[in-house]
Amino acid sequence: MATVNALLGVQWGDEGKGKWVDFLARDHDMIVRFQGGNNAGHTIYVDEQKLVLHLLPSGVLQPGTQSVISAGVVVDPIVLQAEIEKVGKIGHRPTPDTLLVSERAHVITPWHVATDCRQENEVSVPIGTTKRGIGPTYSSRVNRIGLTMGHLVNKDHLDSWLSSMAKDSGFQRSFNEDRENWEKFLAAIPAVAPHVTDADHAVREAMRNDRRVLLEGAQGSLLDLGLGTYPFVTSSATTVGGAIAAIGFDPRWISSIYGIAKAYVTRVGEGPFPTEIFGESLEWLRGRGNEYGATTNRPRRCGWFDAVAMRYAVQINGIDQLMLNKLDVLSQASELKIAVAYRHPQLGQLPTFPTTSEILAEVEPVYETFEGWQEEISSASSFSDLPPAAQTYCQAIEEFSGVKIGKIGIGPRPQDFIPGRS
Ligand code: IMP
Repeated sequence: MATVNALLGVQWGDEGKGKWVDFLARDHDMIVRFQGGNNAGHTIYVDEQKLVLHLLPSGVLQPGTQSVISAGVVVDPIVLQAEIEKVGKIGHRPTPDTLLVSERAHVITPWHVATDCRQENEVSVPIGTTKRGIGPTYSSRVNRIGLTMGHLVNKDHLDSWLSSMAKDSGFQRSFNEDRENWEKFLAAIPAVAPHVTDADHAVREAMRNDRRVLLEGAQGSLLDLGLGTYPFVTSSATTVGGAIAAIGFDPRWISSIYGIAKAYVTRVGEGPFPTEIFGESLEWLRGRGNEYGATTNRPRRCGWFDAVAMRYAVQINGIDQLMLNKLDVLSQASELKIAVAYRHPQLGQLPTFPTTSEILAEVEPVYETFEGWQEEISSASSFSDLPPAAQTYCQAIEEFSGVKIGKIGIGPRPQDFIPGRS
């Protein structure tokens, strides 16, 4: 019987997935990234040293595991080469056998990056993208003009793609004028080529052969292209279905689906955010949580825990349990709030999570208020060690979100967590 577990961000990204992938990687043989690209930023700690990976699955640091970049990911070869070197320097250089990159994954070229930057600067309502070329690369794929990794590493195919794209004046301009990046791009190919293979088949074979496979999501459910807060979303399916569509396997093989969330909410980029806080409370929370983007270093918007959005995320993914991060950040707050419903000025109390960003922007959250706790909690070793107010807060998150909390993060180090309520 296959063991296939999925780990997904269930807010607007930056939930702290890296910590849990790193933790769960120990019990898995293969870690598979299934969507997104180097717009992600997973922070992990190796021997107390902070390491941020944008593209490589966090499992590359785990001896004995295979890491896979599957067909649903968009790959910038320059970034892939740099990350292979980065982990190589700390003694974890992947081999063609330990890092597999799908031939079907699409390639981010300097033209895609430039297009992303240009679009963000020109549109009247920017999305606040990471400007890493993610959206334009997925657009090329959907337009059926994209370049796959399989084609990138085959000189004839690459040449024929480049000459077919030369008909596009914008592409041609990028190719002629952005020489430095195109040279870096072409120079990265030999370093990444040994890893490019039918990686998705390898994942299916691992599943069939009862190896333990962890599907590692990037971004978060509310940024899902189809199910998130469109158009303020990323360009891939960040929900569990994204993994199935990307890799192609029997969905019945999935055993557990872990949802990663913070004990509050953050968002980077534009778009509606009903529980957003401002002023002194924002500065306090941002400072305590060090809420600055791992990829772009942008200050993150912060807000109260949103149980309405969480219920939705739990439903669209079939989340079994939450890993609740950063509870320790909330210590010393005088009071805490959880949004338990949304009220709309014209539509009244909404029965479901709104389907349009316009409505979401107009809702007023209905809050339950909770007492804060003053003690620092990072040395707690069980749920019952937490101050009663922290226990009540976690219990309320479970009740209002309709999901059990499996583990609670109480500090940044890998070992800083406790089990949820028994
Ligand atoms: P893109 O993925 O760069 O196209 O950006 C689209 C939206 O997703 C923007 O609001 C980004 O800030 C957001 N986004 C993309 N990746 C991440 C992430 O890893 N964490 C949080 N937000 C992200």
